[in-house]
Amino acid sequence: MNSEYQSVIRANQELHTVLAGSYDANEPHFRAENIAHVEGRLQALFSATSAKRMLDLGCGTGFLINIAKKYVAEIDGVDVTEAMISRVDRSGDCKIRLHLADTGSVALEPGSFDVATAYSFLHHLYDIGPTFRTAARALRPGGKFYADLEPNYYFWEAVKALPPAGSYDPILLREIHSVTEKDEEIEQRFHVSKQVFNSAEYNKNITGGFREETLKEALLAAGFRSVEIFYYWYLGQASVINDAALSPELRGSTARLFASTLEKGLPLTRTLFKYVGFVATR
Ligand SMILES: C[S@@+](CC[C@H](N)C(=O)[O-])C[C@H]1O[C@@H](n2cnc3c(N)ncnc32)[C@H](O)[C@@H]1O
Repeated sequence: MNSEYQSVIRANQELHTVLAGSYDANEPHFRAENIAHVEGRLQALFSATSAKRMLDLGCGTGFLINIAKKYVAEIDGVDVTEAMISRVDRSGDCKIRLHLADTGSVALEPGSFDVATAYSFLHHLYDIGPTFRTAARALRPGGKFYADLEPNYYFWEAVKALPPAGSYDPILLREIHSVTEKDEEIEQRFHVSKQVFNSAEYNKNITGGFREETLKEALLAAGFRSVEIFYYWYLGQASVINDAALSPELRGSTARLFASTLEKGLPLTRTLFKYVGFVATR
């Protein structure tokens, strides 16, 4: 692997060693409504593959492992940051093996997994190719690779193109802030330099996120047979889910109605979704 590949890994280790202690409490993907959404996706994958073994790439502190462990017999987690992977909870009946390694070069038993996963992880890589090949090699024929919560290039491009001096609703201002000031905020709050933060999120902060076309091409080149792309979390979804004027039931159903309506408008509406994900079949 070239030196830029290695330097992105080192930036990730530096950033995540600092974030690890407060990671689960700070990251919005640990909220109950997102856990329910992800659990639904995993259940569908497990039932389609009659899954017994799962591989979680970039497992961090175990977000997906915690959700999945009641459904499968064995899980292997891979992560390059000791401070993150050492927090994975291995309690329970599921046999959990952890590998402190780079997902692009980790050695795993070929063709032995039913499902591979990567959650909020791929944009931390300098090059997704080696990791896609790891997933393809590890999965059995018919196995499925699920990735989610990856930055959608079309969304971030549209946000960056907005005139900075415009007058915007707080819903949009939050996203503009996330593009223009997130590295500053991380530097002040965690004392990790902007350069390290931006390098650690290479495929968001340097390349601008993932285009669905690029993901599809790289997955097919790695040996996957078919790829289904989806988009997740539209602009303003948090304010619908937290809208105090609606009852808790109405908040959930209204948020889902907006999501399904915008999904029907794809690809026209793809600039409105923050994240892109996929399910690829081996
Ligand atoms: C944003 S966290 C996501 C963790 C977890 N999947 C979650 O959803 O909470 C990204 C993780 O990727 C790990 N990571 C970054 N580059 C890696 C690499 N090349 N190989 C393995 N893990 C890596 C980091 O150490 C970090 O734990």
